[in-house]
Amino acid sequence: MSAPQGSSEQSSTIDALLQETRRFPPSAEFTANANVRDPSVYQRAKDDPEGFWAEAANRLDWFQRWEKVLEWDAPWAKWYVGGKLNASYNAVDRHVKTWRRNKAAIIWEGEPGDSRVLTYRDLYREVNTFAAVLKELGVSKGDRVAFYMPMIPELAIGLLACARIGAPHTVIFGGFSSEALRDRCNDSGAKLVVTADGGWRRGNVVPLKDTTDAAVAETPTVEHVLVVQRVGPSVREVTMQEGRDIWYHEMAAKVGRKIIEPEPLDSEHPLYIMYTSGTTGKPKGQLHTTGGYLVGASLTHEWIFDLKEDDIYWCTADIGWVTGHSYIVYGPFTNGASVVMYEGAPDFPDKDRFWDIVEKYGVTILYTAPTSIRTFMRWGEQYPAMHDLSTLRVMGTVGEPINPEAWMWYNEHIGHGRAPIVDTWWQTETGMILITPLPGIVATKPGSGTFPFPGIEADILDEAGNPVPVNTGGNLVIKRPWPAMSRTIWGDPERYKRTYWERYPGLYLTGDGARRDEDGYYWLLGRVDDVLNVSGHRIGTMEVESALVSHPAVAEAAVIGASDPLTGQAIVAFVTPRSGQSPNDALQADLREHVVKHIGALARPKKIYFTTELPKTRSAKIMRRLLRDIAEGRVLGDTTTLLDPNIVSQIKEQYESTEG
Ligand code: WTA
Repeated sequence: MSAPQGSSEQSSTIDALLQETRRFPPSAEFTANANVRDPSVYQRAKDDPEGFWAEAANRLDWFQRWEKVLEWDAPWAKWYVGGKLNASYNAVDRHVKTWRRNKAAIIWEGEPGDSRVLTYRDLYREVNTFAAVLKELGVSKGDRVAFYMPMIPELAIGLLACARIGAPHTVIFGGFSSEALRDRCNDSGAKLVVTADGGWRRGNVVPLKDTTDAAVAETPTVEHVLVVQRVGPSVREVTMQEGRDIWYHEMAAKVGRKIIEPEPLDSEHPLYIMYTSGTTGKPKGQLHTTGGYLVGASLTHEWIFDLKEDDIYWCTADIGWVTGHSYIVYGPFTNGASVVMYEGAPDFPDKDRFWDIVEKYGVTILYTAPTSIRTFMRWGEQYPAMHDLSTLRVMGTVGEPINPEAWMWYNEHIGHGRAPIVDTWWQTETGMILITPLPGIVATKPGSGTFPFPGIEADILDEAGNPVPVNTGGNLVIKRPWPAMSRTIWGDPERYKRTYWERYPGLYLTGDGARRDEDGYYWLLGRVDDVLNVSGHRIGTMEVESALVSHPAVAEAAVIGASDPLTGQAIVAFVTPRSGQSPNDALQADLREHVVKHIGALARPKKIYFTTELPKTRSAKIMRRLLRDIAEGRVLGDTTTLLDPNIVSQIKEQYESTEG
C-alpha cells in the first residue's frame, strides 16, 4: 500500500496493522442485551442524517424546542437552531427529579487512598454552590473561566457550574507550564482562574497554585484566582495575594446553600474552549457550543459503551483533555451514569493501582489509552492478575492507533476475552467519537477503528481529491457536518476555515491518514501533518521548535516524531547551536528543561542531536521528512530538492555514531 506523505513515523504500528487478519465478533449474549443491536441503524442514518440527529436530540431536555436541525453554510454550522437548553440542567437537575437523585454520580478516588462518593443530589448541591461563588466573583454569562486543576470532584463541579450560568470554561491540563497557562488565559481573555493548593501525583504534590501565580502575573484579564483546598496547609502552604486570591471553601461558606437557576441558553451558546496543538507554534482554541455538542457526546457515550443504568464507568483520561470533557463530564452525566474519577498515577503506590480501583468499585466499563496499555504490558500481567476484573464488560481505547499486540493483551489480560473492545477515533475538533465499533453489532479487528458512527460520513482521499482504492492510504475526511463539531477557532475564524475546510472545499480535513480494507474497515495511520502524538497527547512540532529557538544558545531547530514502542511517538530534536556554543551534554540538559518551562513536561524531547546545519530546500524549508528517515533508520527519501544534499549524510553519520 502507499502511505500518505508524512505518516511514516507510525511505520512499525502500521506494518503490524497490515498483517492483521483476526476478527472478534460480539458474542450472541452481548448482542442480545446490547443497547444498539439492529445493524439497520447505519442505513437509516445514512438515508436521513438530519432525521437521525433530530431524533437524537430528544434525549436532552430543552427549555425551548429547536426549529431547524441544521443550518449549514460551509464551514459554519448551527445545530438545533432556535433551541434553548442548559448543559448543567441536563447533567444534573433532571436526574435529581427522578430516583437517580440517590444514584452515585461521582465515585472519586484520591491518590493517597482517600475517596468520596457524590450522589446526583450531592452534585446538584455542589454545582449550585459553585455557581453562586462564580456569581459572587462577578462572573456572568459569556465570561471565560480558566481551570488549572488536579483530578478532583471540584473540577467537574466547577465546569458544570460554569455551564449553568453560561460562562464558557477553558481547562488547561495540569501538566502544562506557567507560560502555556498564561498564553491560554490571554488568548481566551479569562476573567477568573480556578486552581488548587496542589494535587497528588506519584506521592508528590503538584504545585498548581505556584504555577498559577507565575502565569497570572502576566494575564491582564484575570481578576481573581479561586483556590480549592485539596492538600491543605500541613502539606503545602500557598501564598494568597490579598484582593486577588480567594479560598473556594471560604467563599462557599459565605454564599451558603443557594440555588442558582440554570440559564436558558441558545443551542449555539459557547460551552467551552479547548486548546489543542496544530501545525504552527500557537495552539488553537477549539470552540464547542451547547446543543449539538451535548447531543453528540451523550449519544455516542450511551451507544458505544453500551451504557446501562447500573454500570460503573471509568474513563482514565484527565479532564484537562477533550476526552475528559466529553467522556468524563458531559456525556456520562447527561446520561445519568456513575462515573469513577481517579486523581493520581497508575503506579502509585504500586503498579496494580488501576486494577485495584476496578476491583474496589466494580468498574464495568473502562476507557483508556494505548500508551497506558503498553505500559501495563511492560509492567507485566501479574499486576492485573492480582485482582478480580470480572465486572468489566466493555473496554475502550482512544488517543492513538493501537498496535494489535497491545489490543490482544488488553483483550486477554484485562477483559479475559469477555469484554468487547471499542477502538474510538476522534479529535478535540470533532468533540465526539466519529469512528468506532458499536459493540453489539460490529465484529472488531485488532487495530481498526472499524466504521464511522451512524450519521457520520467519512472518506479517504488522494491528493487530487479522489477516493483511494482499497488498502491504499490517503487523507481521512468527514463529508458532512455533525452536531459536536468545533464551531470555530476562538478569535481566529480564518484559521479554522483555512486549516480544516480548504484543502478539499466543503469537506472536513482531519489531518490523519487512513486506509480502508476489503471489508470497508477503517485503519487509522497517524497524523499526516506536523502534529506529534506522544502518549496520546497532541504536540505541534512547531511549538517545540519555537521553544528551542527561544534559547540563547540555539540558532535553529527541527523537531520530529520518531516511532517509540511505548509512547507511540517520541520527540526528537535536531539543533544547530549558535557559533561559539559548544554542543555538550550540559546544553542538551538545559534545552530539555527549557522546553519543559515553555510548554510542560509532556513536551520534553527524548533525544536532542546537535547538527552544524539542517537539511533545507532551496526555498529554505526544513525537510523534516529526511530527519524522520534518519531517526528511524530508513533509506533516505528524495534529497534532490535540497540546497546542500551533503548535509543529510553528515547528520546521518553523526546520528548513527551517537546511537552507537
Ligand atoms: C489520534 C483525542 C488512531 C489522531 C480524542 C487524532 C487516534 C488525534 C485515535 C486527536 C484512535 C485519536 N486511533 N488515532 N482511536 N484516537 N487518535 O485532539 O491522530 O487530543 O487526530 O483528541 O489523536 O487527538 P486529540
